[in-house]
Order: sequence, then C-alpha cells, then structure tokens
Amino acid sequence: MQVVRDPQAMQAMALAKRREGARIGVVPTMGFLHEGHLSLVRIAKAESDWVILTLFVNPTQFGPQEDLDRYPRDFERDCALCEAEGVDVVFAPETAAIYAPDHTVYVVEDVLTSGLCGASRPGHFRGVLTVVAKLFNLTLPDMAVFGEKDAQQIRVIRRMVRDMNFPVRIVGGPILREADGLAMSSRNKNLDAASRQKAPRLCQALCAARDACAAGERNPVALRHIVLDRLGDLAPGAVDYLELVDDETLEPLGEPLTRPALIALAVQFPGVRLIDNMRLNSFISE
Ligand code: PAJ
Repeated sequence: MQVVRDPQAMQAMALAKRREGARIGVVPTMGFLHEGHLSLVRIAKAESDWVILTLFVNPTQFGPQEDLDRYPRDFERDCALCEAEGVDVVFAPETAAIYAPDHTVYVVEDVLTSGLCGASRPGHFRGVLTVVAKLFNLTLPDMAVFGEKDAQQIRVIRRMVRDMNFPVRIVGGPILREADGLAMSSRNKNLDAASRQKAPRLCQALCAARDACAAGERNPVALRHIVLDRLGDLAPGAVDYLELVDDETLEPLGEPLTRPALIALAVQFPGVRLIDNMRLNSFISE
C-alpha cells in the first residue's frame, strides 16, 4: 500500500492507472476510520480494480464554531486498517496543498442543501462539494462510495455529479451501527460517558417511528411525536432538527405519507453533534 501526500503525484498515478485500463474506486473520508468506513472500502474493492482511500479533514466544511480542532485523528492506525483491507493507496494531502491561500472557486448546490444539515450548518455542503470535486479531479475514479449515514450528503453529491457531468458512478453503502444501535461515527469518540449512554436513543427513536409507519401510521406529525417521545430528556432542547422528508428530493412531506420518506435527525450533545436517519420506503408504495 502506498501513502501519497502530493496532489500532483496522486493525479499522475491515477492517470497512469487509467491508461492501463484499471477501474479506479475511491472512498473519501476524514479519517479516524471505523467499520462504517471499512464497509465502503469493501464495496469499492468489489466494484473496481484499484482502490484509493482519501483521508483529509476538510476545513472548508466546518463552521467557525464547529469541532475542526477537536476532530479525532490517528493516521498510523488508519493506515494499518487500510493496509489490512487491501486498499491500494491512501491519499492524505496537507491542507495547504489542497487549498491555495487565494482560492476563490467553490461548488454550490442550491436546493437539496436548503434544509436538514444544510440549514443548521451554513456553508457545510459548499465545503463538502468543493472538496469532493477536487478529490475526484485528483483521483480520477470510475466509481466512488459514500455512506447513507450522511443521507443528505450522498444525495447532494449525486446531484453534483449529475449536474456537472462528472464521469463517476456514485455507490451508496448502508449505515453501520454499534451493537446498541448507535450509528458508527468518528465523532462518537468525543462523547462523554453520560452522552454515550443516551446516544443509542437516536436510533431507537427512529426505529419506533419506522415500526409505527410499518403498522400503518402515515401522519408525519404523529411520527415526529413518537420520535420526540423516545428521545426523552434529549427533546426538544438538544434536537437540532427532526424532519420527515421525501427520500429523493429531501422536501418536507405533508399528511398522509404517500411517497418513500426519510426520517432524519440531528442531536447536539456537549461538544458533539450526532446525526442519524432511517428510510421509511419499504412500507410505502408509490
Ligand atoms: P467522514 O465523516 O469521514 O465519512 C466518510 C464516509 O463514510 C462518508 O461517505 C460517510 O457517509 C461514511 N460513513 C460514516 N459513518 C458511517 C456508518 N456508520 N456507516 C456507513 N458509512 C458511514 O463524510 C465525510 O467524511 C466528508 O464529508 C467527506 C465526504 C470525506 C468530504 O470531506
């Protein structure tokens, strides 16, 4: 496995691989890898010939009050995990090599980013799209894998690929969870003991809504109440958002639910904001 730091060297390597006829798969990450990330690597390995994992804590997607400085990092451990999974290249550029001090071009999406995390984290998706576009240009992938854990992110990236004609196939991977249901996240490490104990409630609350929906409940207001109820003392104060949206367009859904829906929430714990989501699709036919 090679570790590449220099963007130009990465692009030259990728170009050479493509000329050999290799199909390149890329898994963009911010590191501090867990099983969720590794599950995406396995998908990339199954669907391509040469797998690049990018490891870059992207400053432009963090707001000024957010946790950029406290974002967990462990480069040696990440490399060992990648090596064990059979990753071909870890691309880990320095921030200065990615962003010129006077950079002025960004990628912006206007509609899918107006709600959910886009509403509570102004500028976040501009940072995500800009870095993902740059990473695509540097790694030249045929396919790229993103997790459904960040449901809005993968939809926004698919839209960028469609609207900007990137020749990249976007593949989604399911949410990997801890045994108690908590969605795996690099940020879980920063939860204090009391928060870690409460954190599985996000998943439990979403499951309760999914079960109610399966049992016939089609009223979004009632489904929201079920979630808020299960969140107990986390609600309403710590709840950043809780939305039932169209699974594809992310538009809020009215009553009754007739289209495939996504129920998504963000909860602020001390110093750590967690997100989770669940699809209600399987119970609603179009
Ligand atoms: P990061 O949070 O490191 O996540 C990297 C990828 O792993 C994303 O596609 C994310 O959805 C996926 N992922 C995270 N937790 C997961 C889980 N529990 N199960 C399945 N997949 C999971 O998302 C980012 O980094 C950045 O925004 C990035 C796209 C790299 C741009 O900087």
